[in-house]
Amino acid sequence: MKRHVGIWLMVVALFSCSKEEQAFDDSQKTYTATPVSTSDIFPMEFGAPNLPKDNPFTEEGIYLGRMLFYDPILSLDSSVSCASCHQQQYAFAEPLDRSFGIYGLRTSRSAMPLFNLAYSQKFFWDARVSSLRQLVFEPIVAHNEMAMSLARLEERLKRNKKYIEYFNKAFNEEPNLYDMSLAMEQFLLSMVSKDSRFNRFFPGDNVEELNASELRGAFIFNGLVNFDANGNTKGADCFHCHGGEMAQQQNPAMGGIANNGLDASPNDLGVGGVTNRDQDMGVFKAPSLLNIALTAPYMHDGRFKTLEEVVDHYSDNVHYENPTIHPQMAAHGGIQLNLSDQQKTDLIAYLRSMTDSTFIQNPKYANPF
Ligand code: HEC
Ligand code: HEC
Repeated sequence: MKRHVGIWLMVVALFSCSKEEQAFDDSQKTYTATPVSTSDIFPMEFGAPNLPKDNPFTEEGIYLGRMLFYDPILSLDSSVSCASCHQQQYAFAEPLDRSFGIYGLRTSRSAMPLFNLAYSQKFFWDARVSSLRQLVFEPIVAHNEMAMSLARLEERLKRNKKYIEYFNKAFNEEPNLYDMSLAMEQFLLSMVSKDSRFNRFFPGDNVEELNASELRGAFIFNGLVNFDANGNTKGADCFHCHGGEMAQQQNPAMGGIANNGLDASPNDLGVGGVTNRDQDMGVFKAPSLLNIALTAPYMHDGRFKTLEEVVDHYSDNVHYENPTIHPQMAAHGGIQLNLSDQQKTDLIAYLRSMTDSTFIQNPKYANPF
């Protein structure tokens, strides 16, 4: 059985009972979708991602997901698509502290970049969702994003010629919300960013990819905090939370989440707002730093406009007094890193080497319409 129980599936079931008049022709149910091998999507150096077993990639499935991602008919007044807030030129984030959804309403957090999601176990800043096929329904129904009713959406898709064709090609089905979520899951999982100079350099094999400043930045990023007699450190220990070839913490036990000391007491509770546990207050998903030069402003609330401001935070303004600060940062003993101007410049140069300009131009992820 591919259908599990869930609110959205109950809606699906409800609507497949009421016979909508549509032009679906049963004789078309002969199309075989073209399988796409995972080795054609994911680079060897990233390792094998943990993929859903019941949603194999097909060319048609990925393409259908891409159409849906770019289609404003997923919103009530057909004005907002996923791509309104997730724009390819900004690595699928957008340059706003909070996004605008339908009717000019604002989101409460900054839109996140979308790539290498196949290697992430938890989604959203507060890590509240662990499956992409489930996630896609959140922005669709959110009153301040797309404000769509699922019933109305299914009806719209069922009447739409191009969706009748592509749901048939991808799933041998008439348009329905469950297969919609699978197609979008396929597209989201297929978004891979791997071609930055940082990726060619990592884990240090091709030193010639980086210039002298970037290379010094690499040592600061990957060095442990260790104060000398003058109170200076050679390392800033960024790698514990943003390490590896995806510049993202991959420790599944941690779920890739942490409190990085932004506030003494946070307004937005982050993971704590979901779990209500003391130890999760002010804890957020530690994002990948790939493409970080493209995704300003920074942090869940977009409080930092530049990478300079981000590095000033980690160097000079960490709130060590916050009770849930990550142990790796608590281990600095409450002392600010006080990076020199040169160290800050080098660290930022290294972060800028993580930009993948082929990803933001790759036609596979571009608007298909
Ligand atoms: C109105 C702007 C807006 C729209 C429209 C929108 N998003 Fe988002 N997206 C956001 C914001 C803001 C966040 C962070 C939300 C949070 O953490 O609570 C986010 C987060 C995400 C994430 C989590 C990424 C991660 O690394 O955890 C995914 C995946 C995503 N969106 C996909 C989509 C898809 C698919 C659609 C269309 C169905 C969509 N979004 C529509 C603004 C938007
Ligand atoms: C203890 C874990 C941890 C360490 C160590 C850490 N970070 Fe972070 N980083 C996070 C978390 C968590 C966030 C998201 C916080 C939020 O938005 O509330 C973040 C966010 C960021 C962002 C913004 C990402 C975005 O998409 O908005 C940048 C840039 C960044 N960190 C760079 C660094 C650098 C540079 C270092 C080393 C000086 C570093 N981080 C050390 C956990 C960490």
